[in-house]
Amino acid sequence: MTTLTAVIDLDLPGPTISRHVYGHFAEHLGRCIYGGFWVGEDSPVPNVRGIRSDVVEALRALRIPNLRWPGGCFADDYHWRDGIGPRDQRPRMVNSHWGDVVEDNAFGTHEFMDLCELLGAVPYVSGNVGSGSVREMSEWIEYLTRADDSPMAALRRENGREDPWTVPFWGIGNEAWGCGGNLRVEQFASLARQYSTYVREHAGNDLYRVAAGASDHDLHWTEVLMQSFDALDAGDGPAQPFQGISLHYYTMTGPWSDKGSATRFTEDEWYVALARAAVMDTLLDRHGAVMDRYDPKKRVGLVVDEWGTWWNVEQGTNPGFLHQQNTLRDALVATTHLDAFHRHADRVAMANIAQTVNVLQAMILTDPATGALVLTPSYHVFEMNTGHHDASALAVHLKGDVPTRDVEGTPLALLSASASTTGSSALVSLSNLDADEPLTLVLDLRGREVAGHAARVLTAATLDAHNTPQRPEHVAPAKFDGVRPHARGLEVELPPHSYVTVELALH
Ligand code: AHR
Repeated sequence: MTTLTAVIDLDLPGPTISRHVYGHFAEHLGRCIYGGFWVGEDSPVPNVRGIRSDVVEALRALRIPNLRWPGGCFADDYHWRDGIGPRDQRPRMVNSHWGDVVEDNAFGTHEFMDLCELLGAVPYVSGNVGSGSVREMSEWIEYLTRADDSPMAALRRENGREDPWTVPFWGIGNEAWGCGGNLRVEQFASLARQYSTYVREHAGNDLYRVAAGASDHDLHWTEVLMQSFDALDAGDGPAQPFQGISLHYYTMTGPWSDKGSATRFTEDEWYVALARAAVMDTLLDRHGAVMDRYDPKKRVGLVVDEWGTWWNVEQGTNPGFLHQQNTLRDALVATTHLDAFHRHADRVAMANIAQTVNVLQAMILTDPATGALVLTPSYHVFEMNTGHHDASALAVHLKGDVPTRDVEGTPLALLSASASTTGSSALVSLSNLDADEPLTLVLDLRGREVAGHAARVLTAATLDAHNTPQRPEHVAPAKFDGVRPHARGLEVELPPHSYVTVELALH
């Protein structure tokens, strides 16, 4: 049997892994904003100006770089002026996409910007193309970022905020092929150019505008959006008319009509989920190849601003609220995606897992009755990976036979790996996707002297292990002692269904 070896040249740093690929997403959907982030100032749940303190404290450990808001599909129904001014005078609206519930607009622009400041995250505002207007979007960015006495800056001051905010990221529409207007890409590409023109840079606020991009394998959408640019390969200026285009991809084991259960799944479904997560790498290759044809200098970023697992909702919950549990399987879906983002660091500028609290592949679940907070296995992956933020990607070359399993007619590699370096340290991420078997791997570490290592593991006895208020630490990272010195560097014994990080101190 050949030994499986991962060769890593520690002295050949590649492109920077933007911390923004660790972005998050908070939509007015179910209990993400209301109950998740926002409880209101009068709530018995401890809060700062209405925002839950425990949620903020837990998320600060993830060093969330950016937060996307207010949607999703909700963004193309959202009219920002409804969410400013005295809360008791704000108009109500129907959240027709998500549960058909009445939204009272208690959480609006000021509350979102306050949340970002509490989290230490920068805002990624998703503007309304589907049912909004160019003027509405133009006035929103003026309201947020203008310093002088312009009409919108004056209105912001009337509402209690003197200084402009910094808003680096701006979405031009969302899923324009679907809930964002059911548009044809040719029509949307023109609209995106038009809207982008009026999303202006006020008071030195540099903007990274993201045009609503493709779903899954829709390469035509990406191609037509790339044709919207004028002479991308000329000069050294920033990409125009927008700087990024998005891509959405969700992982499920069934069709949309029956996506699979979050917690009750077979071993086969474990592999199906991970194989479908691995599709992200293929999507980045394919959409990236289309972008390369128009943009060989990689000025336009690919922004995966919605990704993650999407399961059938938990029994007894509102089907429109997308509330699901989160198991060890979700954690490995996350590591598989994050490895793919690291490997494509030269093109992937940003990514946002959907969604931060109580919705889809959440970091945090809160109990509606008791308010108790639970950190999910996915949360722990994001915490274990903070060392990759803004580090330089390192290529991981696998030598030997990587075990595979045939899943839906395609071989799934049962090891996912990526690495990065800051110069003085390196972080190696290793996921053993095998449900039953351990995996021995030699890390052949070249080019730098390794002064020491520390490893952590995220695993559990069963594939469906998850955290609850009764067992909040059932799946949590632990110190890992399965790393031994080896003539070539280190030897790692990966437990079955596990995620291991090895941090290396470099001389
Ligand atoms: O994240 C949930 C929904 O998924 C978003 O609102 C939409 O953009 C996507 O279809």
